[in-house]
Amino acid sequence: MRLWLKFNLVMIIAFTVGLAAAAWFSRGIAEATARAQVLHEASLLMQQATSVRGYTAAEIEPLLAEQSAQRFLPHTVPSWAAQQVVRTLQRNFPDYDYKEAALNPTNPADRATDWEADIISFFRRDTAAREHIGERQTPNGPVLTFSRPFRITNEACLTCHSTPAAAPVPMVELYGPNNGFGWHMGEVIGAQIVSVPMSLPLGRAAQQLEALLISLGAVFLAMLVLMNVLLHVVVIKPIRGMTASAEKIAAGDFSEPEFTAAGRDEIASLARSFNLMRRSLANAMKLLDA
Ligand code: HEC
Repeated sequence: MRLWLKFNLVMIIAFTVGLAAAAWFSRGIAEATARAQVLHEASLLMQQATSVRGYTAAEIEPLLAEQSAQRFLPHTVPSWAAQQVVRTLQRNFPDYDYKEAALNPTNPADRATDWEADIISFFRRDTAAREHIGERQTPNGPVLTFSRPFRITNEACLTCHSTPAAAPVPMVELYGPNNGFGWHMGEVIGAQIVSVPMSLPLGRAAQQLEALLISLGAVFLAMLVLMNVLLHVVVIKPIRGMTASAEKIAAGDFSEPEFTAAGRDEIASLARSFNLMRRSLANAMKLLDA
């Protein structure tokens, strides 16, 4: 096998293995970073919804208590306020979602779908779990879900969610007596579920990885060209010259000029030794002829 072929083969194999390893590691890091970013966005949205709940319960509900006695105002209900605020946010970020999903909801729009019911069941089984992080495939790409359980820990909730008789009459008139009742203390009745699209950050991570791999490939190609030029000028060309010269001398032809051996590298010292050997051979031939 030719020298240049050996060098190129070894370099190409080493580069391919190195590139595959770099791609594998970088992909893992890029995807983990993208996921962490999505999870951070999800936590922010969750915190925002939870803050709106707290604000509504602490500030709005007491303010509208009198009006609520005559006409039920959903505006005073933390759940309604939190979801309403996110709906406004969705005008600009339609792929982001926040839902207060319940198995037996007051508002039928809050009824848990299949996958939401699975998350609620998870919280019902695992009573110590405080959050659930999952991933779902949707027609618009993968979506990260970040959920927290709704466990009834406050007796006040049961005023409106235990029996229709205990609930404010205007509320029952508005929502009906058939759903959203029968909740118990300590029971997980639903979950706050935030959905954040992952396709954009994952796509960005893939683009960055692609740019990294392309630039690594370009650097490698440039190095390969440089190595081939060097190999040719410094090693292959002088050795070819010496081979041709050695073949002529072996046939008794001393007409070729001696090598000009500049430098101190191995090829230059080989050229000097070659010249020496040639002179001794020429002398020996002269002695033989005499
Ligand atoms: C004044 C009555 C009232 C009280 C007190 C109340 N809720 Fe509600 N809750 C409602 C109404 C009405 C809705 C439906 C709001 C809507 O239309 O989105 C609701 C909705 C919910 C929902 C969304 C699922 C569903 O049923 O539609 C959850 C979860 C919830 N409430 C939890 C609680 C918790 C936890 C407490 C106690 C901290 C509580 N609620 C106290 C009236 C009340």
